[in-house]
Amino acid sequence: MTEPGTLDKKTFHKFAQLIYEKCGITLGEKKEALVQARVGKRMRALGLTDFEAYFQQVEKDDSGEEVTALLDAISTNVTHFFREPRHFELLGQLVKEWEAKGQTRFRVWCAASSTGEEPYSLAITLNEHLSDARDAKILATDISTRVLEKARQGVYEERHMESVPRTYQTKYFRKELHAEPVRYRVDPSLQKMVTFGRVNLSTPPFPLKGPLDVVFCRNVMIYFDNKVRSRLLDNFFSLLRPKGYLMVGHAESLSGMLSQFKSVEPSVYIKP
Ligand SMILES: C[S@@+](CC[C@H](N)C(=O)[O-])C[C@H]1O[C@@H](n2cnc3c(N)ncnc32)[C@H](O)[C@@H]1O
Repeated sequence: MTEPGTLDKKTFHKFAQLIYEKCGITLGEKKEALVQARVGKRMRALGLTDFEAYFQQVEKDDSGEEVTALLDAISTNVTHFFREPRHFELLGQLVKEWEAKGQTRFRVWCAASSTGEEPYSLAITLNEHLSDARDAKILATDISTRVLEKARQGVYEERHMESVPRTYQTKYFRKELHAEPVRYRVDPSLQKMVTFGRVNLSTPPFPLKGPLDVVFCRNVMIYFDNKVRSRLLDNFFSLLRPKGYLMVGHAESLSGMLSQFKSVEPSVYIKP
């Protein structure tokens, strides 16, 4: 099969502009090779070789399906269970304290949930630390329909299970017999706690009802510019209840943009 040609600068900028408009992701000059590789993969699937022709196809498609496929191809979905474990430890302590004070309703928004490892880790944490988790709910959202579908299925290969403590593996997952490679299925009791939906973080306001206790928005704001970030942070602020928490990725520098929030510890913020 013929391979996609080379992505020239002009077409790269067109893609970069379109992607920024559609999902707020900023692609600097250094990302040319990445766009060439990832968009090229999508073009191969469509049997196309010319980047400009593909760009026009995306623009022409009124259904929005090809834009979704393009964003799926561009976005980085790397995640794993209990990634940056400090946040889960802290969440466990917090919900325990809140429950001890009489709180019975708990709402967490996982704002870039990728393939589901993060929201299921949140569900495990709530279940483990609350004596009554019946009204503990997680809203898990992402822009990518592909990762949302995978997340909903809740089936993970064995190599993705390494960061799940053994006791949780036994308690919250079922090993699928006869599957090759070996797979684990999330227990329906955890799935019941999580609602998945598509939300584009670059286009607030969001179809969400507050007040929220905690927002996890980790390892996605690094792809946004300050304009998109600060608008997003304002929306998180409005949706959180007073004394609600925001957790961001450890590598994300938001200094100067979190004026309304108070810093609690690195990558953890509270709404005063
Ligand atoms: C690197 S993953 C992070 C997953 C998880 N939060 C974690 O920290 O492990 C980034 C996710 O952000 C999603 N994403 C990118 N742009 C987005 C946008 N504008 N709105 C919502 N999600 C977006 C991607 O589809 C991807 O699943």
